[in-house]
Amino acid sequence: MKKIQIPRGTQDILPGTVELWQYVESKARDLCRRFNYQEIRTPLFESTELFQRGVGETTDIVEKEMYSVANPRSTDALTLRPEGTAGAVRSYVENKMYGSPNQPTKLYYLGPMFRHERPQAGRYRQFVQFGVEAIGSSDPAIDAEVIGLAIRLYQELGLTGLSVELNSVGTLEDRARHREVLLAHLNAVRSELCEDCQSRIDRNPLRVLDCKNEKCRTLTKDAPSILDYLSEETAAHFEAVKGYLDALEIPYYVNPRLVRGLDYYTQTAFEIKMAEIGAVETLCGGGRYNGLVAELGGDDMPGIGFALSIERLLLALEKKGIQLPTETGIDCYLVVQTPEAKRTAFVLADQLRQAGVSAEIDYLDRKMKAQLKQADRLEARFTAIIGEAELANGTVVVKEMATGEQEEVKQSELVAALVAKRG
Ligand code: HAM
Repeated sequence: MKKIQIPRGTQDILPGTVELWQYVESKARDLCRRFNYQEIRTPLFESTELFQRGVGETTDIVEKEMYSVANPRSTDALTLRPEGTAGAVRSYVENKMYGSPNQPTKLYYLGPMFRHERPQAGRYRQFVQFGVEAIGSSDPAIDAEVIGLAIRLYQELGLTGLSVELNSVGTLEDRARHREVLLAHLNAVRSELCEDCQSRIDRNPLRVLDCKNEKCRTLTKDAPSILDYLSEETAAHFEAVKGYLDALEIPYYVNPRLVRGLDYYTQTAFEIKMAEIGAVETLCGGGRYNGLVAELGGDDMPGIGFALSIERLLLALEKKGIQLPTETGIDCYLVVQTPEAKRTAFVLADQLRQAGVSAEIDYLDRKMKAQLKQADRLEARFTAIIGEAELANGTVVVKEMATGEQEEVKQSELVAALVAKRG
């Protein structure tokens, strides 16, 4: 029969690699504990309208990349979440989290997102995002905290020397002022711009500045910068964010052309990049979204967050040759000579496991020698051998594999002996 293959742009994360994921995930969770962000789990699918309104009708995500299906026996459609911010904010509004005394609301999530993109290194159709959202504060310090949290995660995993690109895309009012002069500039070169840019000029001209096409970049080289059109208040906020980043000694550089691919951003926008990661160099992206809560039916509450994918983080670690200190191997392999001893070992393995010691026995009728080999393969720290003599005496021979040291202990004392030896 023909084999069925995994869908394009997805991957199986197999034993041997999954430990890396678990390590990174536990680091991210621990960091959130230290920064006082609490986990939120929202559905993998939401109503399509959430992303149309939240992420924006003119974005690549909503225009081309969403996996949507009709909702059976209903007129609305459902979409597999392409990102986590819209869902988190929907939940914030729906669950009236603004009413909790614990403000601002600081949330984090870790889970799969889905985008119909062209797969390549670091770009998948299902990928796992770790993201945080801080809702309810306009304090520039929290902008720096959010950027700092991402940087600390990379640092703690050994990834240093990343660059933080920072911009302020202004408030809606700032953007309206900038839009007029920007449009004049863009319209003058309109016919020479790429198709995407031409279609973006009227709908979202700022995005034209973020086009990766060399020709478009040259044509828009002298386009007016949004930073020159910020109100005093927005500019002061941006200066304060920079000041807090300086205080944390987090280097950044201001890129006035940085415009994120999602429409909800206002003021602070940032990306964390690594030069060597190849075609896809952005490891993390985020920013402020002061209009999103209201856009999704809540009160006018400011918010800021970021998301990064574990796939790109692991790719970056690999490129830099950084090995994570994941644990492998089991504590104890029980080796038996006879079917009677197997029964005893089976029960002892259960007792060890209950006591927190990882234990394994043979399930393939291997001879003793092959069982010992299997213990090696599993990188067992100890073997516990029950031959005929030990079975008769009610004992077991415990051997520490690294040193070859052996000791005979009573079966009833195996658990205590291994708990002590394991340290
Ligand atoms: P985004 O820039 O679309 O922003 O995605 C954030 C990060 O997700 C990227 O920097 C990248 O690490 C990862 N990512 C995106 N697409 C893929 C893909 N196809 N394969 C692998 N990794 C990918 C957002 O999603 C916003 N919700 C971030 C945010 C949170 N802004 C405020 N709060």
